[in-house]
Amino acid sequence: MNNVVKIIGKTRESHDTFTFDFKSDIPAKPGQFVMVWIPGVDEIPMSLSKTGEVKSITVKGIGEATNALHTMNAGDYMRIRGPYGNGFDLNGKKKILAVAGGVGAAALLPAIAETGCDTVIGARTEKEIILDKQAKDYSNNVWISTDDGTRGYHGNAVELAKEKIISEKYDLVIGCGPEIMLFFLHKACKELKVDCQLSLERHMKCGTGVCGCCVIDAERVCKDGPVFTSEQLDGLSDFGNRKRDECGCIINLR
Ligand SMILES: Cc1cc2nc3c(=O)[nH]c(=O)nc-3n(C[C@H](O)[C@H](O)[C@H](O)COP(=O)(O)OP(=O)(O)OC[C@H]3O[C@@H](n4cnc5c(N)ncnc54)[C@H](O)[C@@H]3O)c2cc1C
Ligand code: FES
Repeated sequence: MNNVVKIIGKTRESHDTFTFDFKSDIPAKPGQFVMVWIPGVDEIPMSLSKTGEVKSITVKGIGEATNALHTMNAGDYMRIRGPYGNGFDLNGKKKILAVAGGVGAAALLPAIAETGCDTVIGARTEKEIILDKQAKDYSNNVWISTDDGTRGYHGNAVELAKEKIISEKYDLVIGCGPEIMLFFLHKACKELKVDCQLSLERHMKCGTGVCGCCVIDAERVCKDGPVFTSEQLDGLSDFGNRKRDECGCIINLR
């Protein structure tokens, strides 16, 4: 897909997040992303939150490009290339738990739709929970956590996921969300001896493995990821610790 696509639907998911639907018959896997060009502003990576003929991106407004996207409406045109990245490998996995933090739910929704897997969606507070209703269309078990206890389990998504992994016994945990959350989810999965595949974020420019700005250790998140297995994450010293900003400077994550 390297295309101008027409927005056919805009849905408010929360106070700061919208989903934009568009049509494209290019095949896409759960966990893949597209690069969205906003002329005069930037080009940014966005996970596909639907991967069928009708595709979508779910955009949290945090800065110039995402807020510019928020001003677009049904009938407007977006410039998109992709899909890129490896996506989740869901083959042969019978019992899967999806664990989402914040807007990370967008990257997991296609996998939830494909497998009907159990799902934990966590956020800091009730008004930041998104895509729970859509997840419930596909999954019988959608559990919510909020850090402040305003909805569902009072605590973070990893604490709730740990309880579910112990009681429900999964073959695979898939996750997307803030990297610190993913770091502790990976740790929990290792302790509880369950495989995981986690979708990481890094600053991206080309999205196709050429420029090197998205590297984590020696891996390119856009091309070798964004989904990494438990074993791959074991070997990444930057995971949960360091990333690079848009100028290439190293930022400590904690
Ligand atoms: C593979 C991939 C998939 C993604 N999927 C989605 C998605 O489905 N939905 C979505 O809303 N976003 C997603 N993102 C993140 C999205 O690309 C960024 O939020 C976006 O590039 C920010 O652009 P901006 O110009 O609006 O903000 P900027 O002006 O670039 O940044 C504003 C502020 O937010 C900080 N910031 C930038 N990115 C992030 C981040 N990821 N987390 C926390 N702080 C950040 C910056 O350091 C800055 O302080 C994804 C990122 C990757 C790599
Ligand atoms: S964004 Fe260019 S190599 Fe990943």
